[in-house]
Amino acid sequence: MYVPEDRLTNDDLSKMVDTNDEWIMSHMGIKERRILKDKDKASAFLGAQAIKNLLEKTGTNPDEIDLVICATVAPDYFFPATGPQICEQAGLTNAYAFDVHAACSGFIYALTTASKFIKAGTEKKVIVVGAEKMSSIVDYTDRTTCPIFGDGAAAVLLEATEENVGVMDYILRSDAVGVKHLRMKAGGSLRPASVETVQNHEHFIYQEGQPVFKYAVTRMADVSAEIMERNGLKADDVAYLVPHQANLRIIDATARRMELDPSKVMINIQKYGNTTAATIPLCLCEWEKQLKKGDNLILAAFGAGFTWGSVWLKWGYDSK
Ligand code: UT7
Repeated sequence: MYVPEDRLTNDDLSKMVDTNDEWIMSHMGIKERRILKDKDKASAFLGAQAIKNLLEKTGTNPDEIDLVICATVAPDYFFPATGPQICEQAGLTNAYAFDVHAACSGFIYALTTASKFIKAGTEKKVIVVGAEKMSSIVDYTDRTTCPIFGDGAAAVLLEATEENVGVMDYILRSDAVGVKHLRMKAGGSLRPASVETVQNHEHFIYQEGQPVFKYAVTRMADVSAEIMERNGLKADDVAYLVPHQANLRIIDATARRMELDPSKVMINIQKYGNTTAATIPLCLCEWEKQLKKGDNLILAAFGAGFTWGSVWLKWGYDSK
């Protein structure tokens, strides 16, 4: 994983907009987030740093990586994709790369895609990276969205194995009912950039918090319960829930629905806020030492689109 050093605290935000630590903690569960302040660096930089750390930690030669799938909602450019720049910056000379555009569900969409390449046997080593300079698309005059998001990146390495581990099952869903509640209003082919769109702050995240919250709570919990049910998994069989970190209340509702003890829920939202496609791999990285081979993990996410889903993952190794 890689997060920038600069921290934006709730007290900092209370000097920028009409908010306070108590409101943000009670409504979102976020204490601080990391911000990439360097104007010359963006999501590709964050992703490349995470991958360099991953290669070093796993002793992997950069030349061995066949494919990088980058999940991001804050690409360096509208086009080309961010993945190829990540490869270049991380020194992955043999890999090809593309981006997956599924917002906060980006990591689980990319992970399930990557597992298909591995299962097909066509690519031997695939990296999935969530890389997000969210601060580039946050409106720091909008108190309803600016406390939520933070910058960061994290990456995982998938390899082929004969053992019964890895992505065991998944449920992915999407529904464009979400467009009206959560989007960047302008900058796409429907509403290209203009003086007016810039003046109206339409190149930032627009979110109607309450409807998104209602959809998120039910849908993330539904698919998490469904994947357990259809695979005969009981709460005792699950080592950890690895939820997208959008709001502590959404995470708690999902865990309750799965009847999971709070000790089995990975939560680091208080430190990083919502880093969109990076939240789930950031959790995996921070909990890695506690994971054992064969542990059943349920990954769950909900985000813009709407997109949402859950993944049943059997952890592949004992951490050193
Ligand atoms: O990851 C992608 C998916 N996104 C999500 O899952 C986010 C889902 N939504 C949420 O998590 C919540 O809706 C929020 C955390 C964004 C907002 O919490 P809420 O409990 O839904 O608050 P609200 O939007 O209903 O606002 C309640 C009040 C309003 O004031 P009035 O109208 O009651 O007078 C807001 O203006 O709180 C006010 N408010 C704030 N007050 C202090 C909104 N933002 C702030 C703020 N500080 N930062």
